[in-house]
Amino acid sequence: MANMNNEKFWSTIEDWPTDLPVGAEFCGNTSLHEKIYEECEKFDNWTHSFDLSEEADEELVYNMTTASGSDMSRWEHVREVQFSKESAQGGYGIAPNDKEWGLFWAVPRKKDFPTVHQFMEENPQYIDPYISKLRPNDVLLSHNHGPDPQFLYNMSINEPEGSKFAIYPTGIITYKPGDIYKLHVNNDHALINGNETRYHLLFKGGRIHHVDAGRIN
Ligand SMILES: [Fe+2]
Repeated sequence: MANMNNEKFWSTIEDWPTDLPVGAEFCGNTSLHEKIYEECEKFDNWTHSFDLSEEADEELVYNMTTASGSDMSRWEHVREVQFSKESAQGGYGIAPNDKEWGLFWAVPRKKDFPTVHQFMEENPQYIDPYISKLRPNDVLLSHNHGPDPQFLYNMSINEPEGSKFAIYPTGIITYKPGDIYKLHVNNDHALINGNETRYHLLFKGGRIHHVDAGRIN
């Protein structure tokens, strides 16, 4: 957690504390990333973040909303605060106020993404996949997924030259293609893409709910 605006996020990164729990943990690497990348390049049915409410299929909505252990009540927040044109214009979402911004999503179904399914069959701890596709040189502004301790899994399918991802308080995570990290997304995180389309594959994690007045929410 930190709730920094994007400018503060990147400008204070050298001074983040070193005595807090880490923001990211390395979970391994898969050599299947090249084949998965080819499947991404071939696929042409992505949903733009701003069109999620109209276009997204049920499985995409479910996988995105529940990725870090939330129930479906978070969906309103996801589409209205994180991924809407209004929030970009208002300066409180993940998107900068730029109509050319291009962050897209898809659920990798077996027909189009057989290698993703091969990976999941070989590694059954990874479930409920969805893929993000970000246009060259676009950014995701710093954000977090809420105050409860929570995580998801994030695999790099490719890393365009010049791309930069960081999460509080750990700092810059040097992803190599095929790397999988457990990201503790209650901490602020942000991304600057490099010079090519960037694909990442996300899987279900979980969360610890706040214990409030002796009751577990
Ligand atoms: Fe995020």
